[in-house]
Amino acid sequence: MARTVITFGTFDVFHVGHLRVIERAAALGDRLVVGVSADELNLRKKGREPVFSQAERPRDRRRPQARRRGLRRESLELKRDYIVQFGADVLVMGDDWTGRFDEFRDICEVVYLPRTPAISTTALIEKISATS
Ligand code: CTP
Repeated sequence: MARTVITFGTFDVFHVGHLRVIERAAALGDRLVVGVSADELNLRKKGREPVFSQAERPRDRRRPQARRRGLRRESLELKRDYIVQFGADVLVMGDDWTGRFDEFRDICEVVYLPRTPAISTTALIEKISATS
């Protein structure tokens, strides 16, 4: 049976760290579902408006390996519902989240992948702000 992988994130100012986590997550199954955080959730959790709105961010994600991927917005509180709704066998997150998704081990595998070093949306925003 096809193995479904799910991952969640904001994926704002899309960078190589995002690409690598998506590629490695996709390699763990046959289908990857990427939950893209809504603007309001990002504001609440990270204290800033995303640079690219929720309408713009999923579009970026569609380019690589589009056939394997479903795209949905997510709300942090609803992760369990999304795992069930999309029939996910594996939940993948970067290891900055280690331990924080263990509560879902009762319904799927939970895998934390090493973050790509030295890059983040926050660092990119700071770098661009400093040079403009
Ligand atoms: N990620 C990663 N390597 C990075 C940056 C992010 O593997 N260098 C992963 C995160 O662990 C997460 C996903 O990409 O699973 C989405 O992360 P997100 O929070 O959207 O990106 P960040 O660059 O970490 O954003 P911020 O700086 O706003 O926290």
